Amino acid sequence: MTRNTLVIVFGAGGRLGTRLLLLLAKEPVTVLAVARKDKPNVRPPGMHWMQIDVTNPAEWPRSLGALTGIAGVHRHTVLVDLLLKRATVTTMRTSIAAVTSYILQLHERLAAVGQSSSLVSASTTATLAPWLYQTPYGLAKRQQLARYATSGISGTAFLLPSLAETGNDRPENLGLSWSYSEAARKLAAAITGPTTSVHGRNPFRLVVPDPPTRQSAVDSYTQRAKSAARRLLPAHMSLLFGRWDSPQQHREASHHRLAVTPPSLREYVDHHRVPPFLLRRLKRSLGGLIEVTNPAPSTARAANERLS
Ligand SMILES: NC(=O)c1ccc[n+]([C@@H]2O[C@H](COP(=O)([O-])OP(=O)(O)OC[C@H]3O[C@@H](n4cnc5c(N)ncnc54)[C@H](OP(=O)(O)O)[C@@H]3O)[C@@H](O)[C@H]2O)c1
Repeated sequence: MTRNTLVIVFGAGGRLGTRLLLLLAKEPVTVLAVARKDKPNVRPPGMHWMQIDVTNPAEWPRSLGALTGIAGVHRHTVLVDLLLKRATVTTMRTSIAAVTSYILQLHERLAAVGQSSSLVSASTTATLAPWLYQTPYGLAKRQQLARYATSGISGTAFLLPSLAETGNDRPENLGLSWSYSEAARKLAAAITGPTTSVHGRNPFRLVVPDPPTRQSAVDSYTQRAKSAARRLLPAHMSLLFGRWDSPQQHREASHHRLAVTPPSLREYVDHHRVPPFLLRRLKRSLGGLIEVTNPAPSTARAANERLS
């Protein structure tokens, strides 16, 4: 990886994006941050910034032309997708669909002028959820994953667990969560590592987290189920009568459905626990020609064994 590599980060001003920019600033790559907001006064040294609203197609010809020109003086371009507008279900779907189309168009433009590019995308374990536990967010990210995986672009999609300021592994809650910094470190390693820098000839990879430990899951079930059962109906009534456009309300209702699911079944249906059965199903639905790996190299073999 050299200064001849250009890394374009979409959604650079977000929680994950700002942490990732700090890490990339230490690497020998050229970084171009793409955000809807103007550049912040304080930003990592040497960082380039471009203001683009990807949901506004009127802006596309100008910005796609500019990005193709900038990429033209580099040997390889890594396109990093961290973009999301989660205010409502509508804006969330629109932002995910728009950034996917934008990145694939940019990839095609670069290919047309003989430039190689690859993708690193922040996806989510929510793409694994079966329909009863699914949310509009999980579905939109799953459709995005399918578009990327079948487009011919090479690269890596991270099925990230829930992100928080500090990560944990607490099965009595929702299972695994990573800190933003931890997720940013893993993305940075994929962006600057050899697999995304070799002329776009690599397979499309899904990186999955290790499932959380399960020790107290069964013990705490009765208490959790009782509390969730009380809130299950009000949460769904609120969803049906007024808050249908709220991603947060869909998430909450789905969490209550999971919490009342018996532990023996939850093993198979809870995406927070990354069940091998759901991974196999996702891999098949994406065409099967996808490599599944784990961010910790020592457990990469275990990830493939879980899938075979
Ligand atoms: N947070 C989690 O728990 C979690 C878990 C798994 C996966 N992920 C994935 O990780 C990625 C980043 O998550 P995050 O929590 O860092 O999100 P975030 O803090 O909401 O950041 C998203 C960024 O996208 C930008 N954006 C939204 N609409 C845009 C548009 N039309 N044009 C240009 N930029 C736009 C936002 O800018 P504005 O501020 O201007 O809107 C914001 O800076 C997402 O793809 C998400 O699906 C997150």
